[in-house]
Amino acid sequence: MVSLVRLLKVLFTLSLALGLTACFEKLPMTTFHVVTEWGHDINRVYLITTIITTIVFFAVAVPFCYALWRFRDKPGDTRIPVQVKGNHKLEILWTLIPVVLLIFIFLPTLEIIMKRHAEPDPGALTIEVIGHQWWWEFRYPDLGVVTANEMYVPENTPIVVKLKSADVIHAFWIPRWGGKMDVLPGVTNVLTYTTPTLENPQGDYYQGHCTELCGLSHARMRYEAVVLPKARFDSWVKTAMNPPLIATALEKKGQDLFMSKTCFTCHSIAGTNAVGMIGPNLTNLGNRRTIAAGTLPNSKDGLHQWLRDSIDSKADYQTVKPGSLMVFAENFVLTDDDIKALTAYLQHSTAKTF
Ligand code: CUA
Repeated sequence: MVSLVRLLKVLFTLSLALGLTACFEKLPMTTFHVVTEWGHDINRVYLITTIITTIVFFAVAVPFCYALWRFRDKPGDTRIPVQVKGNHKLEILWTLIPVVLLIFIFLPTLEIIMKRHAEPDPGALTIEVIGHQWWWEFRYPDLGVVTANEMYVPENTPIVVKLKSADVIHAFWIPRWGGKMDVLPGVTNVLTYTTPTLENPQGDYYQGHCTELCGLSHARMRYEAVVLPKARFDSWVKTAMNPPLIATALEKKGQDLFMSKTCFTCHSIAGTNAVGMIGPNLTNLGNRRTIAAGTLPNSKDGLHQWLRDSIDSKADYQTVKPGSLMVFAENFVLTDDDIKALTAYLQHSTAKTF
């Protein structure tokens, strides 16, 4: 009994600490510090609901505890409390009170639902988001840009996000932006936002994550929304589809390997013969912060580890992202020198000018 009480105390302290941290710290995936109008709208409904349910909790719990104590069993007392069964006044009262409370929760909820279904701004930037097992493709049909795992947007701009899936059900969620939507095969779901105002003048990164269990590496299906000042966004658009720059013999070797090994059948790189559609578009890969959908840093070591990890004949293969389609066939020869060349090619194929 004593250890149970101690356990409950520990659990209570832990949950209180976690709750307070979530409230006051700007954790990367907090829903308390939202940055879009939609996020604030959702939190307002949560606040109203929390206040009403807290009042209801105390309005029920306090009289209940009092009654337990006041009318507790006493030796020799055989009286029966006053019976209120069938009292119409009371029955109408405790039917009406919840109805009124639900109306107070329903009206602001309805208001936000209607707001979300309003027609998007005609000048909004359209972004097609395609969920894949286990990475995100971002297409900008009006700008001719295709990228992966990083959704670049200009600050304070209306955007329309069109969600599609290449395989199974995923879900799109950037906690600090509010809103969460399923990404379904064969259906296009739409989200609209006005992108946040910058907190950091250079640009802000917001963590996103797939929130629908979608297979073995669901937990490794992250992305980032990158909010940039408008001028920086425009220069990103200008350079995003630049063909790779080849400056050294090592990079040339990397390109030859990329085009002669199987890489080009799955990946695209603008301005080259690589036009594969299965894996992420690798144009300007060097500009990305992570690879494999947020699983590894986009560093020489990270890319090296990722390529090594995908060689089927290796004993400890696919430790980074189990089940990934990034697999080299058995007996595929990729030496450490080859990997170095590929890494140099992919990471320098970038104009870091934005
Ligand atoms: Cu995609 Cu979980």
